[in-house]
Amino acid sequence: MAQNERLLIVSNRGPVTFSRSEAGERTYSRGTGGLVTALNAVSRRSEDAVWIASAQGEEDVRVSREEPVPYEVDDLRVVLVEHEEVAYDLMYNHLANPLLWFVQHGLYDLPYSPILGDDTRMAWEEGYVAVNRNFAEAVAGIVEDEEAPVILLHDYQLYVTPLLLRERLGETASETFISLFIHIPWPAPDQLRVLPGYVREGILESLLSADVVAFHTRGYARSFLETASQVLGVEYDAEKSVIYHGDHEVWVRAYPISIDPAEFEELAESDAVLEQEEFVKNLPGKLLLRVDRTDLSKNIVRGFQAYGRMLERHPEMAGEVTFLAQLQPSRSDVPEYAAYMEAVGRTAEEVNEEHGTESWRPIELFMEDNFPRSVAAYKNFDVLLVNAVRDGMNLVAKESVVVNEKNGVLVLSENAGAHEELGEHAITVNPFDLDEQADAIHEALTMPAEERRRRAQALRETVMSNTIEDWVEAQMKDIEAYREQNG
Ligand code: F6P
Repeated sequence: MAQNERLLIVSNRGPVTFSRSEAGERTYSRGTGGLVTALNAVSRRSEDAVWIASAQGEEDVRVSREEPVPYEVDDLRVVLVEHEEVAYDLMYNHLANPLLWFVQHGLYDLPYSPILGDDTRMAWEEGYVAVNRNFAEAVAGIVEDEEAPVILLHDYQLYVTPLLLRERLGETASETFISLFIHIPWPAPDQLRVLPGYVREGILESLLSADVVAFHTRGYARSFLETASQVLGVEYDAEKSVIYHGDHEVWVRAYPISIDPAEFEELAESDAVLEQEEFVKNLPGKLLLRVDRTDLSKNIVRGFQAYGRMLERHPEMAGEVTFLAQLQPSRSDVPEYAAYMEAVGRTAEEVNEEHGTESWRPIELFMEDNFPRSVAAYKNFDVLLVNAVRDGMNLVAKESVVVNEKNGVLVLSENAGAHEELGEHAITVNPFDLDEQADAIHEALTMPAEERRRRAQALRETVMSNTIEDWVEAQMKDIEAYREQNG
């Protein structure tokens, strides 16, 4: 698409959050995290880009009520959408994060949970759909008089926005290009059937009103084709990866998200990171690292248990390695997440009590948001553990191999999206198999230097060959192709 064309990016979390300083002045902080960085790269593709996101706090709400719209901050034009508190809570803490996230990452203990009922219906109707309607309204308010706007929706919080938006736009809807990028795994049809009929059908009907539905891997795209066919009975062409829904074509695509290597290389030399490096370098022995949100999908507890098992089997490793876990607290209002944080802390303590000595703590656990320390650890790890139960992509794997200076070895879950690209050069693990993970950690810690070097170089080259700019470019090309073909 051309630089001067109108582009709308829509995601639940936005690129900035506003607050008030003690002096009463409006300040803001830029959002961090892989998705925000990636969408920043998308927004640079148009001089006329606007980013729509949920208002998250009091000052965000003030901004959302002010004129002019959009709000201009630095190089960004932002529209914040105010939701009713109850509706947002139902969407975020009851529908999107426990239910959809759990189903798509396979986190339920199915003989016991989830227990669905009227509460689910209420969370769907009064929370999820209501919040999505607010988004559809906000988008329509901006584009209703425009000729052929491009609207890029992001992630599982916004599944029903495409259809609500098409309905809201009425006659002009068919000229509007809509894509929805799903950043989390798409499960097999049977797994999706955990969701009540009205939820799964509502989601799929809406997604099929988009022009492009995008994922990080070919595997998720294939699961999506099959799910749409089984749940809604639609036809698809597997080779072209296209679904036919009435006279509408939906292109189902895989664009593996990536990072901006230059950003990380610069960050790696920043004062904040250099300061943290002193701490990281002083940890005893080799450095085994994990950097994650405290999410159940990340499999943190099993990672500690596997490390404990490795120490049991290899007593000679005592004092020769430290496991640094940099964990950013996440979604703590969802009871399962709060309980998981406790389990993470407890398991680390157990391993430390069993294997630690006076001068050596096997696990150094930090549950805090400290990005400079994470980047300092990226530079210095000998082994990085990414053992996710399931993960849409896992950008930590990509970020860290670009700045690592130790020829670090990647131990990678076969269920992380990143495995499609990086698996060949990593040590692959089944995230449920403790013995396999224990062996993999040991193999990685004791790997001969030449093999470490070869693998680390291949990992780095793989990431450099598909950067965030390539990710954006591939999507822009398909937008053009779609419009050319479908008018
Ligand atoms: O990609 C998954 C995702 O849920 C994003 O949508 C989100 O911005 C990020 O992970 C962090 O989650 P949350 O916004 O719930 O803190």
